[in-house]
Amino acid sequence: MSSSLWYAGRGFGVSALCLFSLVMILGILTRAGRPVPGLTRFAVAAIHRTTSLTGLLFVSLHVLTLTLDPYAQLRLLDWVVPFVGNYRPVWQGLGTVAVDLTLVVIASSLLRRHIGLRTWRVLHSAAYLCWPVAILHAFGNGTDGHSEWLLIVLAVCVLSVGAAMGWRAFGSAFAAEGPSPAVAPPTDLADLS
Ligand code: HEM
Repeated sequence: MSSSLWYAGRGFGVSALCLFSLVMILGILTRAGRPVPGLTRFAVAAIHRTTSLTGLLFVSLHVLTLTLDPYAQLRLLDWVVPFVGNYRPVWQGLGTVAVDLTLVVIASSLLRRHIGLRTWRVLHSAAYLCWPVAILHAFGNGTDGHSEWLLIVLAVCVLSVGAAMGWRAFGSAFAAEGPSPAVAPPTDLADLS
């Protein structure tokens, strides 16, 4: 149980969850269309993209190290097909659903030029399902799921994403110039899309 692979796998999982929470916050701020103090729109979009790819790397390391560790008896199938695992199939399956949705969201941005803004927006909004599912997976599947430190990390992730949603929904009420028109993500940073 206490193999270094197992500790590394949990560490990568927690890091990935924090990175994806930051990705959610930056995505919500980009979509709000109002300037973020201290950051240009392009900087927010660029950090959003880089953080999401780093998060994907950490999730890959999370799943890889936990697959190499024999404890959870993970199979390659469990990486993409949910709820068929040997270890806590429901809670672990949520992790697999989160990975599948992450791939849909990232693919939508890599293919954005070909699928158009409307389809991109529909596919990219899968992020709003992916993130809470990953939070539930961590809570229910993790050895530390009910430990104080992980509960604090999960609470900080949930409260900060919640604050960003609140800022997007109600921030315009306080903005001097009133509600902002819906904005498309920056397109001239072609490689961002
Ligand atoms: C976006 C996708 C995912 C995220 C963010 C994520 C994150 C996490 C986190 C934070 C934990 C708790 C670690 C702890 O208690 O210290 C965890 C546990 C676990 N995850 Fe994931 N996970 C994801 C996907 C997956 C997938 C696809 C699998 C399997 C194929 C998986 C297998 C596991 C296992 C076996 C555990 C239990 C490890 C332990 O004892 O803590 N995860 N995950």
